[in-house]
Amino acid sequence: MKEIHEFTILERRQPTPQYVILVLGHGGTMQPIAPGQFVEVQVEGDPRVMLRRPISVHDADAAKGTLTLLIQIVGNGTRRLAGLKEGDRLNLVYPLGHGFTTDIDAASRTLLVGGGAGIAPLLHLSKALSAKGIRPSVLLGGRTASLIPVHREFEPYADVLLCTDDGSMGHHGMVTTHPAFSQQWDMIYTCGPTPMMKAVARSAAERNIRCEVSLENMMACGVGACLCCVTDTDQGHRCVCKDGPVFDISTMKKWYQC
Ligand SMILES: Cc1cc2nc3c(=O)[nH]c(=O)nc-3n(C[C@H](O)[C@H](O)[C@H](O)COP(=O)(O)OP(=O)(O)OC[C@H]3O[C@@H](n4cnc5c(N)ncnc54)[C@H](O)[C@@H]3O)c2cc1C
Ligand code: FES
Repeated sequence: MKEIHEFTILERRQPTPQYVILVLGHGGTMQPIAPGQFVEVQVEGDPRVMLRRPISVHDADAAKGTLTLLIQIVGNGTRRLAGLKEGDRLNLVYPLGHGFTTDIDAASRTLLVGGGAGIAPLLHLSKALSAKGIRPSVLLGGRTASLIPVHREFEPYADVLLCTDDGSMGHHGMVTTHPAFSQQWDMIYTCGPTPMMKAVARSAAERNIRCEVSLENMMACGVGACLCCVTDTDQGHRCVCKDGPVFDISTMKKWYQC
């Protein structure tokens, strides 16, 4: 059940100028949150930012009571969050939305494809898959090396593959041109810029590979009340906040074909 929770910022890191990592502590038993679900963060101290901002869970440790957010600075809200210091308080509503399917065969050849802030939920997902005995491959892409904020964190749980449009790190090209992408996978999960996810989904559909996409439409209420996050699916309009953000592409032909 979604609830409001107060957290304290235990640690703040800035791996690149555009990204900040906040490790939050609850100080008690924490409500579990599944990979792909998200929190709505209250941004205080800036009158231009009235609505909470949706942010994925980058990492969560229910036993320790910690939750980690990876935040890309794009506007007033995220800039304000990035300016917070260790010891500051943060008010979150969670768990929100439907996350990734992790109940898959342990023998599944599994690929996670992430770009930009879409890399965030893939660490929590990698850990969940690893706990089930699956070692996924994680393919992370960005326009340039500084736009891939994290990758070493994945190494205990996944085989990491990198690519950049300008060749500054890893394979030179987009994620869909990485040689590993065209291997035969049983399951692909993706989160990142919409054109990237659509290209991944189209390729997966052509190759009959099961695939889940995590959409990052603009949101307001985050709970299915305002309809501002609606996306067109083969089953009609769906709220990304309530019915997603994760969707199986078997219901998303209309979305990925346009
Ligand atoms: C389910 C979900 C999970 C998300 N997880 C993360 C995460 O883990 N880390 C992270 O950094 N960001 C994440 N986002 C995106 C994040 O919510 C937005 O970047 C943030 O709300 C922007 O707030 P702002 O006040 O800084 O920018 P605004 O002033 O609101 O906008 C600044 C610019 O960013 C664009 N923008 C705003 N929201 C989005 C969006 N959702 N997608 C693309 N462009 C947007 C606006 O069009 C504008 O150009 C997620 C979004 C969703 C829906
Ligand atoms: S954000 Fe309001 S319905 Fe999804």
